Amino acid sequence: MKIIFATGNRNKLKEIQAILGDRAEVSIPADHGVTEEIPEDAPTLEGNALQKARYIHERTGLDCFADDTGLEVEALGGEPGVFSARYAAVNGAGEGHASADNMALLLRRLEGQQNRRARFRTVIALIRNGEEHLFEGIVNGEITLKKSGTEGFGYDPVFRPEGYAVTFAEMAPELKNRISHRGRATARLIEFLNAEGGE
Ligand code: IMP
Repeated sequence: MKIIFATGNRNKLKEIQAILGDRAEVSIPADHGVTEEIPEDAPTLEGNALQKARYIHERTGLDCFADDTGLEVEALGGEPGVFSARYAAVNGAGEGHASADNMALLLRRLEGQQNRRARFRTVIALIRNGEEHLFEGIVNGEITLKKSGTEGFGYDPVFRPEGYAVTFAEMAPELKNRISHRGRATARLIEFLNAEGGE
């Protein structure tokens, strides 16, 4: 079975190809001549994942999937959510290094806040034989008072998953991948593809 992963991120591609093994041959849009940036300007994670998958499907006619992730903080009404990658920038608080700026803004907005509950949510949109399917992965946790750890990326240094005493950035990557939002959504996608049997 052949499938396109609508991402420009070769690390994500490698990760998923390793999980799928020889059950599927995963390629990226550039392998099919689609080299421009894929638009993602929908107001929800679901909308963005579908927008990216449809964009690739319309141009290649092939099966494909796309993902979108957001950090949703309860006391901030679900912010930064769909704006997670550009949180500081869209709030005029960016100084250059997106992750550091994003975490600084988040910690500032939560100053004095008792409720620090948050979750990461990943949505994967799959277009398979012309039909659309959505898969979700969630990890609950809380925003720490300060940054700890150097592993991972994005908000990892300030996110402590439920049931653990350390942040994502203090965890071995294998453990994070097993319990993470993306790991869980990917597991559901793979379960679906496996149940189908592929071709
Ligand atoms: P994307 O949809 O995977 O590009 O994720 C959007 C943004 O969410 C990223 O730019 C990061 O800021 C944040 N993010 C996504 N996944 C993670 C994660 O596993 N750890 C920390 N931050 C993440």
